[in-house]
This record gives sequence, C-alpha cells and structure tokens, in this order.
Amino acid sequence: MKIIIETERLLLREITFDDQEVLFKLHSDPEVQKYTGEPVVTSMEEMKKAIELRIMNYKKYGYGRWATVLKSGKQFVGWAGLAYLPEFDEVDLGYRFLPEYWGSGLATEASNAILNYAFDVLKLDKIVAIAMKENKASIRVMEKVGMEFDKLAPYEPGSENAVWYWCDKKLIAKNKSQ
Ligand SMILES: CC(C)(COP(=O)(O)OP(=O)(O)OC[C@H]1O[C@@H](n2cnc3c(N)ncnc32)[C@H](O)[C@@H]1OP(=O)(O)O)[C@@H](O)C(=O)NCCC(=O)NCCS
Repeated sequence: MKIIIETERLLLREITFDDQEVLFKLHSDPEVQKYTGEPVVTSMEEMKKAIELRIMNYKKYGYGRWATVLKSGKQFVGWAGLAYLPEFDEVDLGYRFLPEYWGSGLATEASNAILNYAFDVLKLDKIVAIAMKENKASIRVMEKVGMEFDKLAPYEPGSENAVWYWCDKKLIAKNKSQ
C-alpha cells in the first residue's frame, strides 16, 4: 500500500481495485453525488472503469485522487486529492466523503495536507477548486484552507456557472498567517 500523505487522523493512499465496494457505496449515494455534477454510479462495472482511470492518472501525472482512510481502524472514509484538468490546463483539488463522516473537519484536514504536498513535494504552482454554487460545505472547505474566490464560470462547456477558487503557495501562507 503506497501511503502518499499522513495527517493527524488520516492516511491518504492510492486507490486500488480492492476499494471498488467502498467506492461504489460512496458514488452510488444520491446525497453524496447531489452537488458534484455527476450522476450516481449504478454498476460495479462502471466503478471498475473509474478506478482504472484513477490508476492510469497516478502513472501519467504522478498524483491523483487518493483514498482517505482513518489511521485508527483503517476504515475507508472517502477520497481527496488532485486532478489535472486538460481542458483548462489547471490542477484541481477535490474531495468526497461518506456522509457519516461529514462535519468533523476531515475534508479540511486532508485538503491542508494535499496543498502542502502539491506545493512542496510536487512543486505545482497553482491549484484550483471548483464547486456548484449550492455546495456550501465544499466552498467553506476551500475558504478554510486559505484559497480565494476567482470567478463564476462553467465547469463544462454549456453547463451552468460554477464557483472557482484558486491558490498558490504564497496566497496560502498569507491567508494562514491572518
Ligand atoms: C464537501 C465535503 C467533502 C465536506 O467534507 P467535511 O469533512 O464535512 O468538511 P469539513 O468538516 O472539513 O468542513 C465543512 C465546513 O462546511 C460547513 N458546512 C457544512 N454544510 C454547510 C451548509 N449547508 N452551509 C454552510 N456551511 C456548511 C461546516 O460547518 C464546516 O465549516 P466550519 O468548520 O466553519 O463549521 C462533504 O460534505 C462531501 O463529501 N460532500 C459530498 C461530495 C461533494 O460535494 N464534494 C465536493 C464537490 S465540489
């Protein structure tokens, strides 16, 4: 198991095919998918294809969306990580957790560590995060980690405006020192 990041409560590691059932539980939940712009996943076949893509992206870019597991007990709680968006030439921070773990700061904890890793280890210059306007919890996480509002713009051509946040290492340092 390749551990990428360790935080106070979480381990972030690469997703593998062994995660297909827990990932299916997450991606087939309408409450989880509600503000992601993605439909619920309805078959294990679909889930396997999505995992295949994740694994390919680790190889292609050297980063990706990582499984987040609790250090205590090793339960899978969701995923968080980075994705290269070729259509915008940007690197996106994303997160998705099982509802029973919402509201305890896990997305913020994972995101803080991911941003440090992105700037200090991967040497990336800029990270964006994108959410539907209604996704107040996601936008709050972006604010809590020190990102700033950039623009309202579609995430996909022809789709509704989404909320775009951004940060670089300097901005995070400035916002964290306030
Ligand atoms: C978005 C998500 C990852 C947040 O995870 P989390 O672990 O609950 O996040 P945190 O606990 O670190 O922080 C959530 C913050 O949002 C706030 N919040 C939650 N729901 C809110 C709402 N409806 N309105 C305003 N603020 C809200 C919380 O109070 C908390 O802020 P606070 O610490 O200032 O009180 C989680 O809700 C999730 O997985 N949602 C489904 C998938 C998703 O939408 N992913 C993002 C796609 S852009």
